[in-house]
Formats: sequence, C-alpha cells, structure tokens
Amino acid sequence: MTADVKEAAETAVTDYILAQETKDQLRFLTCGSVDDGKSTLIGRLLFDTKLIFEDQLAALERDSRKHGTVGEDIDLALLVDGLEAEREQGITIDVAYRFFATDKRKFIVADTPGHEQYTRNMATGASTADLAVLLVDARNGLLVQTRRHAFIASLLGIRHVVLAINKIDLVEYSQSRFDEIRKEFEVFANGFDFETLQAIPMSARFGDNVTARGQHMDWYAGPTLLEHLETVEVGEHALEAPFRFPVQWVNRPNLDFRGYSGTIASGRVSVGDELVVAGPAKMSRVKTIVGAGGEVPEAAAGEAVTITLEDEIDISRGDLLSTTAHRPDVADQFAAHVIWMSDEPLLPGRPYLLKIGTRTVTATVSEIKHKINVNTFEHVAGKTLELNEIAFCNFALSSAVPFDPYEANRSTGSFILIDRMSNATVGAGMIWFALRRASNIHWQALDVDKGARSEKLGQKPAVLWFTGLSGSGKSTIASIVEKKLHIDGRHTYTLDGDNVRHGLNKDLGFTDVDRVENIRRVGEVARLFTDAGLITLVSFISPFQSERQLARDLMGEGEFIEVFVDTPIEICRQRDPKGLYAKADRGEIKNFTGIDSPYEAPQTPEVHLKNVDREPEDIAEEVIAYLHERGFLGS
Ligand code: ADX
Repeated sequence: MTADVKEAAETAVTDYILAQETKDQLRFLTCGSVDDGKSTLIGRLLFDTKLIFEDQLAALERDSRKHGTVGEDIDLALLVDGLEAEREQGITIDVAYRFFATDKRKFIVADTPGHEQYTRNMATGASTADLAVLLVDARNGLLVQTRRHAFIASLLGIRHVVLAINKIDLVEYSQSRFDEIRKEFEVFANGFDFETLQAIPMSARFGDNVTARGQHMDWYAGPTLLEHLETVEVGEHALEAPFRFPVQWVNRPNLDFRGYSGTIASGRVSVGDELVVAGPAKMSRVKTIVGAGGEVPEAAAGEAVTITLEDEIDISRGDLLSTTAHRPDVADQFAAHVIWMSDEPLLPGRPYLLKIGTRTVTATVSEIKHKINVNTFEHVAGKTLELNEIAFCNFALSSAVPFDPYEANRSTGSFILIDRMSNATVGAGMIWFALRRASNIHWQALDVDKGARSEKLGQKPAVLWFTGLSGSGKSTIASIVEKKLHIDGRHTYTLDGDNVRHGLNKDLGFTDVDRVENIRRVGEVARLFTDAGLITLVSFISPFQSERQLARDLMGEGEFIEVFVDTPIEICRQRDPKGLYAKADRGEIKNFTGIDSPYEAPQTPEVHLKNVDREPEDIAEEVIAYLHERGFLGS
C-alpha cells in the first residue's frame, strides 16, 4: 500500500468512526404482555437491521472496545449507564437491554417483561428512555395493562409513544379495527403530556410495517416502525437543560492538582464559565476541562470529565456544580412521586437512605399524600406502600440537597431509596417541588445548653434504651435501675411504652406504621430529656432495628445505650403478666409482637441482658456496672 492510499484509508476509517459517534441515539422501551408479540417484534427489529447493517454493528463493537472495559465483548455498561447505582444496590434488573443501529441512528431498547413486577421493571427501563412502544393485540384492543403502561411511561417523563397495533393479520388487516383502537387510545391519552403519538398497524410475525411495508395494508400511509424510530424528533433534553455536574470524586494526585471528576448530568460547560456549588453558593471559574483524551475547551451531558477551577474552594463528593445563572433548588423537604419496589412495605417515619446524584442522605416519608391506582388513575388514601405501588409523598431529609424538578431534569430530579439494613434498593422517586414549610424555622440558639445543664446536674446525660418482647421484664428492670440511680443522687426520667401510649401516643395502635411513629416520637422526646441533662430510661418493645437506629442517630456520640432484655418468648408467655399472650393466642389481639408481628433482635447492643433464671435485681446491677465502666456515674 502506498503512503497516499494508506492515509486515505485511515481518513475513511476515522470519518466512519466519527460518523458513528456523532450519529444520534434513541433510547426506547417496549411494553406489552407476553402474548402481544413483544419478543417477536424485538426479534424482527434486531434481525432485519442486523442483516442490513452488520458493518455498523462491528463499528459499535469497536466503540465499546475503545471505551474499553470488557475486553472483547460489547460493553453493555455503555448502554445501561445510569443503572450502575441500582445494580450496586442489589436490585434485580429484569430488564434486557439490546441495541442495534441503522445508518441514521443508534438504538437502545429496554425490554421489560410484562409479568407481575411490571412497575418496577418499567421504571428501571424507562428511567433513561425517550420513547415507549406500547404493544396491543389487534384482536383484544386496549387492555387495562396498556393504560397502566401509558400512565407509568407518562409519569416517568416519556413524551413520545408508539401504539403498535400488532397481529393485524389476525383481523384480516382491517383498517376499521386499527382506527377503532387508535381513536380509543387517543381519547384516553389526551390527559397525558405526550408530544408525539404514532399508531402503527403491524404484523411482527410477517414483518409488515416493522422494517418494511409489506403488501397487505395499502390503506396505511404512515411510517413503518423503523422509519418512525429513525426520524422521530425527541429533542436532546439532557443537552438543552442547564449545566449540572454531580461531583463523584475529588481528584487530587498531588498538591499541584485538584480536579473534580464525574459525569456531566446535563447541559454544557466551557473553560471560563462561572460555576457555583449548590448550597454553600461558593463560586469560581472553570480553569480546565479534562476529558478521556486530554484537555478540551468544552464538554456536554453524558461526558465523563475532570474540571479544575481558578480558586481553591471546598468541594467534596456529593456536591453539585452548576452555572451561576441557572442554579438548582436546594431543600431538605420536597414532594415526589415514589414507585415502591420492595416486598417490605414503605413505612412513613422509617429512615431510608436517599441517593440523589452522587449524594446520599437519610430520609423519611413524612406523609403519603395519596396513592395512585395505576389502572384507574384514581387517588386513594393509604398509610403504607406495597410492592409496585405508586404514591405522591412528602419527604423530609437529614440535610438539604440540591435538585431540579423531575420535569425539568430527569437526572437531577430523580432519586432512589435504599433500605438501611439490607442495603437493597426499595424505591425510585421523581421530585416535583420543594416544600418550604420548614425553611423559615431556624434553630433557636439557647445560652443554657446541654453542657451547662448537665454540668449543673453533675452528670453525663444518656439514654438507656430497653428493648425486648412484651413480658420480657424491660419495665421491671428499668424501674430498679432508675431507683438505684435515684438513690445514688442521679437525675433521671423513665419513658415507658404502656404509659406513653396513654398520653402522647394514645392515637397509635400496633400496626407497623403506628409502631414506627411510636418510636419516632419517643426517640424525639428522649432526645429532649437528654438535652435537659437527664439519664433517660426508655422501655418500649421497639421491635424494629431501623427505628432503634433512628433513635440512636438522634443522640450525641456515645449517649445511646441499647439494652437488649433477651428473654425467650416461651418464658414471656409463661409469665404473661397482663394476660396478653393468652388473648393473642385466642386471636383476640392482632399484631402481637412475637406472634403475628415481628421482633428484630439487636445485633450489637451495648448491654445484652440474658434473662433466664435470674433475679431482676442482679440484672439491673449489670446495667449499673456498665454505666460505671463507661464513666457515666463518675469514677
Ligand atoms: S412498640 O412495639 O410500639 O414499641 P410499646 O412498647 O409501645 O410497643 O407497647 C407495648 C405494650 O403494649 C406491651 O407491653 C403490651 O402491654 C401492650 N400491647 C397491647 N397490644 C399489643 C400488641 N399487639 N403487641 C405488643 N404489645 C401490645
């Protein structure tokens, strides 16, 4: 090969690869039940386009090798970015991602199975999709499921829909049947914010109107599915939105370099732009932008970059950078739609981890405003959320976070909820608006503080949190401990489940939701007593680990002493001081702890009291000894 020819060939290859890279991309998902022919349709799309465009596929393979993380295989991670977090968190993704390309576009299809876990899978698949293909069997017309899928798609921010009226061959390619279904759907979808809605009659089995027209439907003048997918304008929302950069890590290889690394969530950034850290509102200008291949003058949504700034300002992982002109919202309370993905119900008041962008905070649902019946779209009241249910909720966070409404930015407007105990992803959320109610209430600084009060009392405040089954002896032991402390000149107070439930918590019963609220309230009260400088004894069954942890988090370092009164249920049952076990066995009391309501024993309590064949006095001494050891009672 002469040098000239070689150079020309290289240029051609470079051009070709460039064309592949700049070729725009459409992410879509398909929804429908098993019988609607979804697999056949996807199979047909892949098969037809692969035959025609095998060379492009090879190019995509090259692309992924270039970004290279998986050696010889096509890097699927390139296609499913945004799901990394969920995968790490152990969510089972039953969504298959496939991709294909024509000379006009690259396509990424999320294929969500139509079985029971539909909502969760759809949410996973739709979180980054631009368009939804809703499949309908022409013989059956619209099903409840079709409406549900349309609703979820709309909720997740999908603005483009194809109504694929499939199996048209089985209704003799009937135009009137097609029109009937199309019109019914158009009326129904009127309330949703779809920008485009294209109904296409097709036979995935025989290929009509999928990638080629076929001979049976001269009456249909619209595009084939592939033509539509190739040409539909979905807009580059992520590029058009204001610049958002969640800092993934601070890159500091040596003292001379300090860069902030992450993937640009939306918008564009150029060297010289003035940026601001959301929250503290510290500003600086972009000094350099470093991409995969070195320094670049500008970068845009989807690119992984490291940004350095003119000034040394304090920025850490989890911070969100934006331009000064278009800043995100910052709040510690907001209203959001939540899709619940766990077998364990969502309990208002229970702390969950909320991961938004690269930031993770603790959050509780302070109120379920309403649940949404996904088949009728009615708003219904509810105290908890079950698997696959959707609700509009108010959230309260442990600290303020930056965000955008989901409508404006799907990346900075969405979050996932993680169970603190199992570390599994249990929900996905889409933020609507900040709640300002608490924003004008500041902490009143008081001159007489905890330190001053406890000094006056001459003691170190603490919470002795007794947990255990009903009849385990918590109250008896707590009462002896308090007496001993009192005699010793200590200032104490006891909060006892049975007593508090007569007053402050008399509106609460024994459902999981009520128990969570019961403990949340008593945790807050215990915090106030501790702040008053007292040694506070709490004696509640407090059956859930999450809420005991919540109470622990409310107290100062080392102040929370978990005391597990470990009495086997057989012994509690024999004692049965209030006759409640007998009643529960007869079915007269529901949700009784240890019988038909769970007790989650502490894993690492500060004090573990084994209560078999022992006198309460002895056991109480064990608690006192612990307090001595830890310096709560002087030396
Ligand atoms: S907790 O689970 O929410 O922490 P708490 O300690 O306040 O319970 O109240 C438990 C007390 O309520 C028990 O000691 C018992 O006397 C009484 N009780 C009545 N019904 C139940 C029930 N279904 N489960 C447990 N305790 C019950």
